[in-house]
Amino acid sequence: MPNPSPRQQTRLHAQPSISADRLVLLPSDFRLGVSTAAYQIEGAAREEGRGPSIWDSFAHTPGLTANGDHGDVACDHYHRWRDDLDLMVDLGIREYRLSVSWSRLQPSGQGELNPEAVVFYRALLEGMRERGIRPLVTLYHWDLPQPLEDAGGWPVRVTAERFADYAARTVGALGDLAEDWITLNEPWCSAFLGYHTGAHAPGRRDWGAAIAAAHHLNLAHGLAVAVIRAELPGARVGIANIVTDIRPRTDSLDDLAAAERLDAASNRVFLDPVYLGDYSEQVRRLLGADGLDAVIRPGDLDVIAAPTDFAGINHYQRVIARHDDDDAGPLRVREEPAEPATTSFGWSVIPASLTAVLMRVSREFTSLPLLITENGASYHDYLDPDGDVVDLDRVSYLRGYLDAVVTAVEQGADVRGYYAWSFLDNFEWAEGYGKRFGMVFVDYATQRRIPKLSAHWYRRLISERMSQLEPIGVKR
Ligand code: FCB
Repeated sequence: MPNPSPRQQTRLHAQPSISADRLVLLPSDFRLGVSTAAYQIEGAAREEGRGPSIWDSFAHTPGLTANGDHGDVACDHYHRWRDDLDLMVDLGIREYRLSVSWSRLQPSGQGELNPEAVVFYRALLEGMRERGIRPLVTLYHWDLPQPLEDAGGWPVRVTAERFADYAARTVGALGDLAEDWITLNEPWCSAFLGYHTGAHAPGRRDWGAAIAAAHHLNLAHGLAVAVIRAELPGARVGIANIVTDIRPRTDSLDDLAAAERLDAASNRVFLDPVYLGDYSEQVRRLLGADGLDAVIRPGDLDVIAAPTDFAGINHYQRVIARHDDDDAGPLRVREEPAEPATTSFGWSVIPASLTAVLMRVSREFTSLPLLITENGASYHDYLDPDGDVVDLDRVSYLRGYLDAVVTAVEQGADVRGYYAWSFLDNFEWAEGYGKRFGMVFVDYATQRRIPKLSAHWYRRLISERMSQLEPIGVKR
């Protein structure tokens, strides 16, 4: 049982919670949870029929990830999931966003599902049900089966159709164990980091391919919504988009236009078609001639705009945009971190950005309930000589951002949940294991899990929340 050590207990007392009169403003069905993704935690990369994904190939290519790190073992969650779920329960966490691995479930990217993967995910979801943990399942968190990349990847249209087939089969196999489904996680990263900057798998550097990928990811989402509804009529479905708070460096017309371009190529290209039914003028002006117009087929926009049940928002940072003619990239924008940039990623910590993003999505894009499907920070956490991880920075980050959620609710946003990134330290993509985002510290040499101070803080917050709800008869 992960009780705080005496020293942690003292520290915890000194760490304020969110005040009760703020916490009570959250809707009664508000979910306080945690988030992870398959490739980042599972390991077992070559076991029980799992096939290679673009992330296996990328991470095993020398020089592409920090220290050559890869997800072969990661947190070994594939073998340790029972203990991990027990730990979650001990920490009071009853809402868990996880992803299932396409390359485990359908290794070749088409055809029958791998029965061993179905057994694994059914056991995992049943394990959650037994423990009273509600799943929110993401179908695609970046692990495209390598055979589909070999056939062209997201820049080719058929990949969207393959995704819909995989989604239908997966929801068919697991749908009795989960009601809440997310089609894609952050298609911006898949398209632009994967095919434009090459910082993420598959590591290609082709602007036109990235734009085509963006549209096909949007299409994949829309096609999947339809098949999920057909398989599981009671399902609640949505997409998790990263929404960055982009601000111009100055109010010069050049900087304003630069910020608008960056917004179009990061936020709008994904939010517009899903929630507004079409790519906006800004997006078409920027990306149309570079390939977007050429890949949109009649009917696509109706497919993409299929009604969803919630809007998933991943939020990490505010970015400052400056016009830069010398920038060789197609956007002519230089991006700078907004101050203060204090996480170990160099990302800003500005809770008001989360309020701003929630208000913007509510006002400009959708009246759907909003779920914050990811938010969190990496710090240089370490196991101290007493065996504790005293991550005061993360506690203050979480307090600030959760309070910013309350502010958005006060201002009228319909926010129904917050899933902190992340439950465990894990494989942070190109950054490898050096970036720790977890509330639970993972000692990778031994696979020991050590709840950080932030996990104890979150547990206390959840229990305070429960005690607010009990008198009005809300269970969960
Ligand atoms: C998001 C990803 C997630 C994690 C966090 C830090 O962009 O969705 O997997 O890497 O960033």
